[in-house]
Amino acid sequence: MAKLTEKKKRELAETALAMRKMAYVPFSGHPVGAALLAKDGQVFTGCNVENSSYSPTICAERTAFVKAVSEGVKEFEAIAIAGGFGEVPETYCAPCGVCRQVMVEFCSKSFKVILVKTPDDRKEYTLEEIMPLGFKIEDVNSGTYAERD
Ligand code: THU
Repeated sequence: MAKLTEKKKRELAETALAMRKMAYVPFSGHPVGAALLAKDGQVFTGCNVENSSYSPTICAERTAFVKAVSEGVKEFEAIAIAGGFGEVPETYCAPCGVCRQVMVEFCSKSFKVILVKTPDDRKEYTLEEIMPLGFKIEDVNSGTYAERD
């Protein structure tokens, strides 16, 4: 298990801020960067990537999750998110509902969501706090969907 020390949180915040610079945001001008810490210690990064057709846009958080899962990693400890307008983010960027749903798929209630303005200006929540009553894999497998097979 990767230890989520103060130093590690600061590093994740720095990485999320650096990833914000990679964002492709010609439509919103709202860049977001993310740094996802896996339980094995690996860090997967992401930024938002927008599209002329709008709906294919992917958020920074989901970019990071998709990169990790596609590399065979499915256990996570924390994510740092830095997003917003300005040279440095003027606001904390809370994850959208779709990204919270993706977090629920792979993360436990105690998964930490760290919102970043600067490496030392952060707010921290658990996934349970920002996504209570999440719809999970058990809800699908124990219900009528499973009975169809
Ligand atoms: N966005 C993210 O990347 N993550 C969030 O948590 C909130 C929203 C992106 C999507 C879009 O490219 C831009 O921010 C404005 O909504």
